[in-house]
Amino acid sequence: KKVVLAYSGGLDTSVIVRWLQDTYQCEVVTFTADIGQGEEVEPARAKAEALGVKEIYIEDLREEFVRDFVFPMFRANTIYEGEYLLGTSIARPLIAKRLIEIANETGADAISHGATGKGNDQVRFELGAYALKPGVKVIAPWREWDLTSREKLMQYCEERNIPVDFSNKKKKSPYSMDANLLHISYEGGVLEEPWAEAEEDMWRWSVSPEQAPDQATYIELTYEKGDIVAINGERMSPATVLETLNKLGGENGIGRLDIVENRFVGMKSRGCYETPGGTIMLRAHRAIESITLDREVAHLKDELMPRYAKLIYNGFWWSEERKMLQQMIDFSQRHVNGEVRLKLYKGNVILVGRRSSNSLFDESIATFEDDAGSYNQKDAEGFIKLNALRMRIAASKGRKLID
Ligand code: ARG
Ligand code: SIN
Repeated sequence: KKVVLAYSGGLDTSVIVRWLQDTYQCEVVTFTADIGQGEEVEPARAKAEALGVKEIYIEDLREEFVRDFVFPMFRANTIYEGEYLLGTSIARPLIAKRLIEIANETGADAISHGATGKGNDQVRFELGAYALKPGVKVIAPWREWDLTSREKLMQYCEERNIPVDFSNKKKKSPYSMDANLLHISYEGGVLEEPWAEAEEDMWRWSVSPEQAPDQATYIELTYEKGDIVAINGERMSPATVLETLNKLGGENGIGRLDIVENRFVGMKSRGCYETPGGTIMLRAHRAIESITLDREVAHLKDELMPRYAKLIYNGFWWSEERKMLQQMIDFSQRHVNGEVRLKLYKGNVILVGRRSSNSLFDESIATFEDDAGSYNQKDAEGFIKLNALRMRIAASKGRKLID
């Protein structure tokens, strides 16, 4: 028996390694990915070795993460419950996919993860895993064991001589955090009181708008088929685009968010997020679409977006309906090319210009000046009258304005 574990190298997942070995007498394969969390992944190797792990996977998935997950999601202007840019949600399907691929490579029949039984992440990992390997066995230690506090975890380490130098010394952050190239999240601790304002020193990726420079930063983004391919005229890879926008946004106090959201499992949860690059991308993408998309296409996208966002939040990335929506969204992007110019200033993303060789904006039609072009103002009279017909009939039959 063999199990592939999503291993961060931290205390919790290190305990999980030993617990899996003890409880299931199985061989553990560890998988550690760099998805831009900003921590070295290589140290996970020595830690896994010390725990007796023989098959150790350490991978840099940053480009794949942005190219195949973040960018496709942003083509839909995706946002959950009007606010959340889904930074954690969108990373889970990639982890699930690699867990299963590694299980297949190493002949493992099970996967395991360090998500608790109260959250969304367990759902996302496991829905993904089942979709990609229907017979896979899932082991979620947090739902099984009784190591419910940090003290119990440490005691477990001591009893079993788990060589976790990082267990006692490293000062633990008071928050449950999760980071990748798209965002960093904070939950728990003082945030469990929704009225309590987060301390300033909690935020790690951005300066506060108050501390941001008094001078605005201008940037120009180049789009091809709905994806950013260059910043200020310089072409760069998807991960570099997001990294660069995170830096620019963070310096200008952009992308902080404090919300209470509805988890899939039914509870409300308060979370703080920093998504500097994503916040810029959302505004900019809407701007390039505003001149390149047909009105009804844009409106239909907007109607379906909350549905698409919920699919991702709830962990259905690998579902048939998500793939169907994605095809449609991607098809809509084939003319979404051009440039957007923005100003970043004290927490604000301010649009100042947009242009495209595929633009549907027609100055000769839209102008308030001389009527030239193909728009005849007289046509509007019949257009309005026919649109009013139903209402005129109702009024003429004595229907009141307000019942
Ligand atoms: N509440 C957010 C979500 O469901 C963030 C979860 C953060 N995950 C974590 N392991 N700390 O997407
Ligand atoms: C967890 O419970 O593991 C983190 C929070 C979440 O998944 O929503």
